[in-house]
Amino acid sequence: MTISRLYFFCITLCIGLLACNHEELSDYDKELSKIITDKSRYILPDETDLASIPQSPVNPLTPEKVALGKLLFFEPVFANEAKRQDLKYTFTCSSCHVPESGFRPGRMQGIADGGFGFGSKGEQRFKYPYYANDSIDAQGARPLVTLNVAYVENTMWNGSFGSEGKNIGTESMWGVFDKGTARNHERLGALEGQNIEGLIVHRMNYTRQIIEDAGYKELFDKALPDLPENERYSRKGASFAISAYLRQNLTNQAPFQKWLKGDNHAMTDQQKKGAILFFGKAGCNSCHYEKNLGSMKFEALGVDDLYEHGGLKTGPADRRNLGRGGFTGRAEDMFKFRTPQLYNLGDSGPYFHGGSKETLEDVVRYFNNGKKENQRVPDSQLSSFIRPLGLTDEEVADLTEFLKNGLKDPNLKRYVPERVLSGLCFPNNDPASKIDMDCH
Ligand code: HEC
Ligand code: HEC
Repeated sequence: MTISRLYFFCITLCIGLLACNHEELSDYDKELSKIITDKSRYILPDETDLASIPQSPVNPLTPEKVALGKLLFFEPVFANEAKRQDLKYTFTCSSCHVPESGFRPGRMQGIADGGFGFGSKGEQRFKYPYYANDSIDAQGARPLVTLNVAYVENTMWNGSFGSEGKNIGTESMWGVFDKGTARNHERLGALEGQNIEGLIVHRMNYTRQIIEDAGYKELFDKALPDLPENERYSRKGASFAISAYLRQNLTNQAPFQKWLKGDNHAMTDQQKKGAILFFGKAGCNSCHYEKNLGSMKFEALGVDDLYEHGGLKTGPADRRNLGRGGFTGRAEDMFKFRTPQLYNLGDSGPYFHGGSKETLEDVVRYFNNGKKENQRVPDSQLSSFIRPLGLTDEEVADLTEFLKNGLKDPNLKRYVPERVLSGLCFPNNDPASKIDMDCH
C-alpha cells in the first residue's frame, strides 16, 4: 500500500466512523437514555444463562429440567383425566397458552378439556357440544401470559400463589377461598406450587406407569435425580420440570431489549417515541417497572369482568371478579389486580382480566380517557391513575406501536419443541384441531 493510498484509506474510515456515530445517537436515543438512567434494570438475561434467572432454591434450574418441561407443556398424552373418553389425550397447557398468540389463547377465554378446534393460532377453538357449560375446563379470567414469569413473585391475577413477597402475612387465607393455595404451606416456589394445582385443574396426571408407557422415564430420571421416586414420577416432578421451562421463557430478543443492550437501530423512531412516553409523560412505569414490565402492584383500573364478555363457566358471583380481595378477603384489596407483564401482547387480544379491550390501542385509549367502565368498582377503590392523561392521537399511536412491536420478541419458536415423544399433535389433538393444523 502506498502512503497516499493509506492516507486515503484512513480519511474514508474516519469519515465513515463519524457518520455512523452521528447516525447512531439520534435525539430520541438521547432522550430515552436520559429517562432510563439504569438500563441494566430492565435487561432480561439470556435464556441459556440459567444461573442469572430467578428460581426457587427447592427447584434449581438445569438444562435437563428445562428440556423435559419443554416437552411436557405441549404433550397431550398426559391429558388423561378428560371428562369424556372421546376427548382424552386431546389438550395440553398450550391449548390455553398458545405460542403463536404470545402464550395466550387466540380467543378471549381459554378452553382445554371440553374444547375442540384450533384455527391458525387458537382463534377457532370452541366448546365441544357434548360438554355442559360447567363441565369444561375454562376459568373466569383472561389467561395470563406464561412469558417472563420468572419475574412474578406471586402468580395469578390475584397473586394467590407463593409463600413469599406480598403473601407474607396472608398465611391464614391459604386454602380458604381457593383450596389449591393451601399448597403455599409447602414453600416450593410460586410457580412450582401453582403448577401442581394447575395439573389437577387441567385434568392431567402422572404416575410411574403412565410416564414409562409414554416413553418419558429416562428424561424424568435425568431431570429430577434429587427427587425421591414417589415424588419424581408424579405431578410434583412434572411441575418442577414445567416450572423450570417456564422460568427460561424470556423475551430477550424484543427490539426494546436489543436497544437496552446497545443496538440503537433495533427500535424505530416511532417505537422510541412510544418508549419515551411509557417511561416519561404517560407514567406507565410507575406500575409496570420490573424486568418483565409488570410488577407486584395490585391496582383497581375499573375494567369489566369476563362474564360480561362472553366467558363460559363464570358469572357475577365468581370470586375472580374481586381480584386480590377474592383471595385475602380484605376490604382494601377488593377489585385490585396484579400489574401484568407487557411483552408480546400484540400477538393476541383481548386485554385486561375480563378481556374488555380488543386492541392495544383500545387499552391506551382507556388509560388516556381515564374513566372506569365497571360501575361495581367503587371510586374509593379506583386507582388514582384513572384520570385523563391528555395524550394526543399521535402520542396514542406512538405508545401503541412501542407496546405492539417494540416489545415483541419475534422468535418465540425457540421455546416450542419440534415434536413430543408420543408423536401426538399439539397444542391440541382433537380431530377438528388436527385438520386445522394439518397434523395427522
Ligand atoms: C383452560 C385454560 C388453561 C390451561 C389448560 C392452562 N392454563 Fe395457565 N392460566 C389460565 C388462566 C385463565 C390463568 C389466569 C388465572 C387467574 O389468574 O385467575 C392462567 C395462569 C397461568 C400462570 C400464571 C402466570 C402469572 O403471571 O401469574 C401460569 C404459570 C400458568 N397458567 C401455567 C400453566 C401450565 C403449566 C399449564 C398446564 C399444566 C396451564 N397453565 C394450563 C388458563 C389455562
Ligand atoms: C396504577 C398502576 C398502573 C399504571 C400506571 C399502568 N398500568 Fe397497565 N395495568 C395495570 C394493571 C393492574 C393491569 C391489569 C388490570 C386488570 O386487568 O384488571 C394493567 C394492564 C395493562 C395492559 C393489559 C395487559 C394484559 O395482559 O391484558 C396493558 C397493555 C397495559 N396495562 C399497559 C399500560 C400502559 C401503556 C400504561 C401507561 C399509559 C399503563 N399500563 C399504566 C396497572 C397499571
